[in-house]
Amino acid sequence: MKIRVLGSGAGGGFPQWNCNCHNCSRIRRGTMRSSPRTQSSIAVSSNGVDWVLFNASPDIRSQLEAFSDVHPRSGIRDSGIRAVILIDSQIDHTTGLLMLRESTVPLQIYCSEMVRADLTSGFPVFTMLGHYCRVEHHAVPLDGGAFEIPGIDDLRFCTHALKSKAPPYSPHRHDPHEGDNIGVVIEQASTGRRVYYAPGLGEIEPHVERAMAEADCLLVDGTFWREDEMAHAGIVHKLAREMGHLPQSGSGGMIETLRAHEHARKILIHINNTNPILDEESPERRELETHGVEVAYDGMAITV
Ligand code: MLT
Ligand code: MN
Ligand code: ZN
Repeated sequence: MKIRVLGSGAGGGFPQWNCNCHNCSRIRRGTMRSSPRTQSSIAVSSNGVDWVLFNASPDIRSQLEAFSDVHPRSGIRDSGIRAVILIDSQIDHTTGLLMLRESTVPLQIYCSEMVRADLTSGFPVFTMLGHYCRVEHHAVPLDGGAFEIPGIDDLRFCTHALKSKAPPYSPHRHDPHEGDNIGVVIEQASTGRRVYYAPGLGEIEPHVERAMAEADCLLVDGTFWREDEMAHAGIVHKLAREMGHLPQSGSGGMIETLRAHEHARKILIHINNTNPILDEESPERRELETHGVEVAYDGMAITV
């Protein structure tokens, strides 16, 4: 199966418009070996023609323009995007839906009931799209159950709930529910090859560990290097785990977690602009390399 990283950054992207942190200021000045990153999204396909979009980022317009496989092929209006899976209702993962309003067919959106509730209340994107192209919502399983998507050959999707938080705008922000955030196993039926995608992963629960162990490729939360990264950068006194993101370093962190999965290709995605791994010459980046962990970049093409 083919995966295209459309956007490898976390909310805000890299550099972020109002951020003057060590990374953002250096990339603007051209004194850092790195590349800019748009906000979190991937596309997946088995045949290179019909694609599933995972998350719709605020940067979707330029992301799709930069990816010729999804450009119109026939007729006056066309796209290779057949459906959208949303892993949560965060602004960086859903705002791009508004940019798909020109669709001539109803948008086929797969997400949890909790995400649907957010997107019809606190941030009523689904309701708004009803006045343009319409949305057909499909509820995804939260227990690891599998589903298929019409028009997408040879791929199966298994979705499970992750421990996380609803977005700040959500009516249930302080009252976590199953399905506020999900992880997805994407399996190609003909080859049995599997990818595990979880850009927001705050805790490695047993069902997460199992899904990771069965995957050939792990595309997982690369938001923060350290637990107190936001405070360390002088931005906000919130810990990585409190924000639903497992940091890479430290005990029980992502590097330690990934060490158990020797056989799999390991790629960090959804990288926050404060993260030192964005600097290709940093000691943190070198540490990832010694553990065989890659860092996703915009336009990265992955074949599994
Ligand atoms: C997150 O995943 O925590 C975000 O990137 C939040 C946001 O988009 O504001
Ligand atoms: Mn995010
Ligand atoms: Zn920054």
